[in-house]
Amino acid sequence: MIRETEVDCDDLIMPYFVCPGTKVKNPIPSMPGNYQLSIDLLVKEVKDLVDRAGVHKILLFGIPEHKDETGEVACSHNAIVPQAIKAIKREVADVLIVADVCNCEYTVHGHCGTIVNGDVNNDLTLVTLASQSVTMAEAGADIIAPSDMMDGRVGAIRKALDDHGYTKTPIMAYSAKFASAFYGPFRDAAGSAPQFGDRSTYQMDPANGDEALREVEQDILEGADMVMVKPALSYLDVIQRVKTNFNIPVVAYNVSGEFSMVKAAGANGWVDEERMIKEILTSIKRAGADVIISYHAKEFGIKKRLEK
Ligand code: PBG
Repeated sequence: MIRETEVDCDDLIMPYFVCPGTKVKNPIPSMPGNYQLSIDLLVKEVKDLVDRAGVHKILLFGIPEHKDETGEVACSHNAIVPQAIKAIKREVADVLIVADVCNCEYTVHGHCGTIVNGDVNNDLTLVTLASQSVTMAEAGADIIAPSDMMDGRVGAIRKALDDHGYTKTPIMAYSAKFASAFYGPFRDAAGSAPQFGDRSTYQMDPANGDEALREVEQDILEGADMVMVKPALSYLDVIQRVKTNFNIPVVAYNVSGEFSMVKAAGANGWVDEERMIKEILTSIKRAGADVIISYHAKEFGIKKRLEK
């Protein structure tokens, strides 16, 4: 009766990795239960997510056939994610698709932007990000989610979407994205580890909470419709500060490393995995997240439905 926080299937977004080919289901060793899926199998998987787990929202990442220097491969209608979006929208009713927008999965060097003299060039990167966003919207993406952390990208993407007639497509900005060790398994899954240096010139220092609020404010001023804090668990204080300081929906990303820790400990019998997942998702919501992106989403949804 007096319980304050209840995580619902409607709060959750399930991430997927889509790859070329047909009937491809490559297990991701560091993320048990997650796969690189070709479009045909992804469509089936999303149907299953909706039917069995009652989760109706997905986030898509692409693994391209070929990479290039700038990530321009992602800006074509034939690119892997636009193709996947179209197939899912054709085959699955009532699913909301969030398209992650970034260059790191598509560049040969694995950085989120265009390299000039050994460094990511912020403003040149805005061009590919805006173009990738328009391509995603044209394919049918419901929400555009830039995860690159370049300065000014929300404004650039908003303008590009508006100029192409996508005035109603919202932007979910990865606003407070920290340079985190918790992204390790994701980079295996997406083949997006930087080949030199790291992302600390564009992602945030884990020590900085005030800066997170400045980043959020900036993105809201540029037109973000919702803002994200990422990772979630080591940043619950940041989630709460964003929630109390700004009147805007807050999204939290329960990232790959957070997922894999639970799975590894669970597989060893060191923790009660099911209770832990519930506790983790509840804590993220209690901290102030309105929406949670989590690799646990499907499993949580299936169990939740069985309980009812
Ligand atoms: C792309 C991107 C990353 C994640 C989401 N989008 C990786 C990174 O910044 O290196 C991480 C997600 C996860 O760890 O689950 N920029």
